[in-house]
Amino acid sequence: MKKQLLDNASDTSLDRVDGAVKVTGTATYSAEYLVPGLVHAVLVTSTIAKGSITAIESREAEAVPGVLAVISHLNAITVPGWPERKQPAERVPVGTALRVFYDPLIYFDGQPVAMVVAGTREQAVHAASLVRVTYQQETHQTHFEKNIGKAGVALNVQRSKNSPFQDYQRGEAAKSENTEVRIEAEYTIPTQHHQPLEPHAIIAVWEADDKLTVYDKNQGVKSAQGQLAQAFKLPRENVQVISKYIGGAFGSGIRVWPHTMAAVMAAKQLKRPVKLVLGREQMFTSVGYRPYTVQKINIGATKDGRLIGIVHEGTGQTSMYEEHLERTVLASRTLYACPHVATRYRLLPLDVNTPTWMRGPGDATGMFALESAMDELAFALKMDPLEFRLKNYAESDPERNLPWSAKSLRECYELGAEKFRWNNRMQAPRSVTQNGLLMGYGMASSLYGFHRHPSKVRAVIQADGSVIVQSATMDIGPGTGTAMTRIAAKVLGVNAKKIRFELGHSALPDAPGQNGSATIPSVGSAVHVACEALKTRLVALAREMSERFKSGGQVVVRNGQVYGSVDDKDGVSYADILKYHHLNELEVTEESKSGAERDQYSMYSFGCHFVEVLVSPLTGEVRVTRVVTCADVGAIINYKTARSQSIGGVVGGIGMALMEHSEMDHRFGRYVTTDFAGYHIPVHADIPPIEVYYIDKPDVHVNPIGSKGLGEIAIVGVAAAIANAVFHATGKRVRELPITPDKLV
Ligand code: MOS
Repeated sequence: MKKQLLDNASDTSLDRVDGAVKVTGTATYSAEYLVPGLVHAVLVTSTIAKGSITAIESREAEAVPGVLAVISHLNAITVPGWPERKQPAERVPVGTALRVFYDPLIYFDGQPVAMVVAGTREQAVHAASLVRVTYQQETHQTHFEKNIGKAGVALNVQRSKNSPFQDYQRGEAAKSENTEVRIEAEYTIPTQHHQPLEPHAIIAVWEADDKLTVYDKNQGVKSAQGQLAQAFKLPRENVQVISKYIGGAFGSGIRVWPHTMAAVMAAKQLKRPVKLVLGREQMFTSVGYRPYTVQKINIGATKDGRLIGIVHEGTGQTSMYEEHLERTVLASRTLYACPHVATRYRLLPLDVNTPTWMRGPGDATGMFALESAMDELAFALKMDPLEFRLKNYAESDPERNLPWSAKSLRECYELGAEKFRWNNRMQAPRSVTQNGLLMGYGMASSLYGFHRHPSKVRAVIQADGSVIVQSATMDIGPGTGTAMTRIAAKVLGVNAKKIRFELGHSALPDAPGQNGSATIPSVGSAVHVACEALKTRLVALAREMSERFKSGGQVVVRNGQVYGSVDDKDGVSYADILKYHHLNELEVTEESKSGAERDQYSMYSFGCHFVEVLVSPLTGEVRVTRVVTCADVGAIINYKTARSQSIGGVVGGIGMALMEHSEMDHRFGRYVTTDFAGYHIPVHADIPPIEVYYIDKPDVHVNPIGSKGLGEIAIVGVAAAIANAVFHATGKRVRELPITPDKLV
């Protein structure tokens, strides 16, 4: 059974260390902490997309039994880190995060305008429905296509010469125009929302006026601590952020959003602990989303399939008050050996809330375009799409002219193709049917940059030989604790059951939040380094106990014991070492970060996906029937959880390709798909068998554990592979996601 589950994995993987508490419902999520005196808050949100509040009638709401307050800009406390309110209110300069309950101005539909706090959530929900807000409305612009002419270079980019989002050119611009075979096409992805099953939630608790504890769903307790400390002008240590268990996040929790500030403000104002849980409909406007993006690609090659030029332009949506920038066009500079490349990236500000990173941010969007265009060009060349990619394989980074730290994308292609049986593919579209359904094969590549941030880890061995490893890192779902336990167990030679990894608390040693696929590369390295340091201390203490351990490099650790050599039969246990030295525990704290190699090599994770689809020629329904995904992310730390992460990425990619679409009614500038009846995500019945393979070769240049990020490349390219398979099945190229039946019949 286990073997079948693990594809090409060894069966020594750890089960999730927190699996049991999660599936038995005993893991405590942010909204579930029992805090005495807790009261409940519910947001009232704007029903116009642009304008200002003229009045808030709250008497009826205040009369509801149990209601403690109706908070709005009319009576909210002053946040010390915010500038003094202007009279009359002025629209903020670009680059200012939304300040909740600050002034009467409305920037988007769904903006929090008031908040009811009551003894129970039911009382608060009812009272919130009675708050009457009147507005002076201004004309809003939310329609991307109608406004695309207003897109421009982001101010942030204009100000920063070194911004990666600057226009880029190598070789001659527009060289693709004169090539023998050329494709020019436009690709669109709609706004998509993260949709974690656990909505964002917070409990804010003030102790006196200057000590704040928040239980908040987010992806970085340290950055949330910093942002809250800054807003309330408190020393960092006076603010503690706890976020131990997270029911999915995908990027929606990377920053502190207005609803978190709202709850913290209310708790301060009322001197009561306040809980706020967003409703599903509020998840569309209270936290960010993957921005609506239109891309143009002009790509050309010689008749024998050598890429000559790529021009890749992308325009993404942002809000009127902030610029959200992402890597949309960047992969086109890096992925293939192509002499002439130009990229341009533009932003279109609209009367919407600010977008944010969503799994594979920028790259998932950009690679849909690039890898669709590569497929279109392969068909125009009458070449196998995989052969075409291999022909243009980049042996070194063509953008930075640097060697790769490691790259086994070729091996990924080969392994994936073999497992998928890609060789069975017929070149001509619409040439295979099965039970009256059209069958197609598609593939796409995946890449994602390497991120490693300075990370601290404390490792403590206790009198009984058990180990506690701590870091203020996070687990938004991939199984951080499990992977870190595996690393610690391996270094220390201690059974994983005797190790406890603690995370998700801002008082723990400083570590980055969980984003950008950086956790294992960053924190995993620090766990490795800290446990190595602890081992060194233990071995030194053992040497003081007996001559046997003085054999220099021969000493080994296993089963929680130090041995004089590999063949040594008698070891001394860590517990006995501590006892001998009269130590209750032994502790080390270490930091790990990138060194000079970061600038000497180009570091990326790579991968590819192979997809089979069946399409009904009558209804246009697409079913993904088989997926093989293969990744080169250096060393795999724990196969079982890695595999789950890869599967999750593919599932997200199936949603992106076939279902996900946040639809707006532009008459009101309001999303209409604000529940799971309207916003479709894949369910189990939509998901075929997904085979996962890894090259599992350590990248010796990236960090001491040889491991790169997996979270993002798992989704990057999946939508293109599906779109390419749909083309192969039907002969119809869909360049606007999602590929719904109406686009195929
Ligand atoms: Mo990821 S979008 O960096 O959570």
